[in-house]
Formats: sequence, structure tokens, C-alpha cells
Amino acid sequence: MEKLAFITGANRGIGFETAKKLAQSGIKVILGSRDLSKGEEAVQKLSNLGIDADLVQYDAFDEDAPQKVYDYILGKYKKLDILINNAGVLLTGNLFVANSSTIPEKDLKDTFQTNFFSVISLTQKLLPLIKKSSAGRIVNVSTILSSLTLHSAKDSPITPAKELAYNASKTALNAFTVHLANELKDTNIKVNSGHPGWVKTELGGPNAPVEVEDSYKTSFNLATLGDDGPSGQLFHENDTLPW
Ligand SMILES: NC(=O)c1ccc[n+]([C@@H]2O[C@H](COP(=O)([O-])OP(=O)(O)OC[C@H]3O[C@@H](n4cnc5c(N)ncnc54)[C@H](OP(=O)(O)O)[C@@H]3O)[C@@H](O)[C@H]2O)c1
Repeated sequence: MEKLAFITGANRGIGFETAKKLAQSGIKVILGSRDLSKGEEAVQKLSNLGIDADLVQYDAFDEDAPQKVYDYILGKYKKLDILINNAGVLLTGNLFVANSSTIPEKDLKDTFQTNFFSVISLTQKLLPLIKKSSAGRIVNVSTILSSLTLHSAKDSPITPAKELAYNASKTALNAFTVHLANELKDTNIKVNSGHPGWVKTELGGPNAPVEVEDSYKTSFNLATLGDDGPSGQLFHENDTLPW
């Protein structure tokens, strides 16, 4: 049976590119999209490239969404090989603000809902399906801006990027990666965080140096790791980054 991947936030940006590349490598992909009409447009774009992608609605604010996704995958495919927790938000729209002393609690909570809490609910719910895979792979799409080591270093390239909600939610996501990887260390499942690079998407903005077409690499690599591959680390492409 062919491998199956579910990618959240796959209707555009890095999630879409990752789904496309996985599909082109022979993996069946299910796109997660909170807006079904946007998801259908993405499925059509893939269809124009000869890719037969599936679609399921997934909104990080819908507390019933993990169960609905679970039911859909169980009913149609019985198991899941790859989960890419890709959906994410930067609510201020600006990575280069220093807002720790001013950020409204609502922005903080809404960011954590999408970038952290919903990831845990979804992963917990789908884990029984991933355990049925002979090589389960969980990819948490993080960022170099999650790194406390780099944030606290002198002269780090990320020093000017101090938007609290986004950065802290991804630091928390990394904690989930490390803890879950440890819990699953005696299974076939690998759990890693990935930094895709600074990418020209709606979230990354127009000044980002990486084109969206090149943004799939880290998630793709982590989703297709061999049995001897790492677990519980933060990567950018083939390099590890400090926590
Ligand atoms: N771009 C970068 O430079 C960069 C760097 C490091 C890490 N990342 C990470 O890469 C991931 C993808 O980012 P991107 O740059 O591709 O961003 P993007 O183009 O803005 O796409 C974000 C995706 O997440 C979805 N999404 C947002 N809120 C959601 C919710 N409540 N429920 C379900 N889906 C939701 C969006 O759906 P809609 O279309 O419906 O809004 C969209 O599909 C994020 O986790 C981001 O933190 C990006």
C-alpha cells in the first residue's frame, strides 16, 4: 500500500509545496485546509500537474477537527505514515517587532492555539493511525526563531526578530517534539522539528530570500527519513539547529 501523508495548512505556501513534492515522489497526500474552497483550488492546481490529491477540512480553532480528520483517514485509508504539522500564524504580520512588554493576551493565546495547542490535539488523536505505519514520521514545522540559544547569543542573525507570540509558540512546539520523540523512542515513529528557511510567503513577507518553490526541502527530508534517521531534533535542510 502506498504511503500516506497529511499536511495541515496545505492550501498554499510551504505546506502546498511540500504536499506537491511528496506527491511527486509517489506518496499519496491529503491536504488539510481550513477553507474547503481554497483547498479545492489547491487540489485542482495539483491535478493540473497530474497529481491526485485528497482534501480534508482542518481548522486549528475547531475542537472537533482532530476527530473528524481521524475518522476520515481511518475510514478511507486505515493508517497514516506522515503527519506534517505545518499550519501556522504570525498574527502581527511582522517578525521584526519587539512586543514582549505590549502584546495583548488574545494575540498570544490565538497564536498558541494555531501553532502549539492544536498541534498537540491533532497529533494525539492521529497517533493510533501513525502507530499502524511501519515508518511513522511526524514533522513539526518550526522556525529558527524558536531557538533560545540563538536568541540569547550575542550577534546572532536572529537578534532583531523578537515577536514574542510567534517565537514562543514555536519554542513550545519544539518542546513537544523533544518530549514526544522521547516517548516514542522505542517505536518506528520519528518526530522532528524543521525550519524551512525564511520563505517568501504571506507569512514570510516579500523580503524573504527563499522562493516558495524551494521551501519544501526540510519538511520533505524529515517526512521521508530512513529507519536510521534522527528523532527529536531541529533541522534546517540537512543541518541541525540549536534549541
Ligand atoms: N515563511 C517563512 O519564512 C517561515 C519561516 C519559518 C517557519 N515557517 C512556518 O512554516 C509554516 C507555513 O508557513 P507559510 O510561510 O507557508 O505561511 P502561509 O503562506 O501564510 O500559509 C499558512 C497556512 O496555514 C494555514 N492556517 C492559518 N491559520 C490556520 C488555522 N487556524 N487552521 C488551519 N490552518 C491555518 C493557512 O490557511 P489559510 O490559507 O486559510 O489562511 C495557510 O494554509 C508555518 O508553520 C510557519 O510558522 C515559515
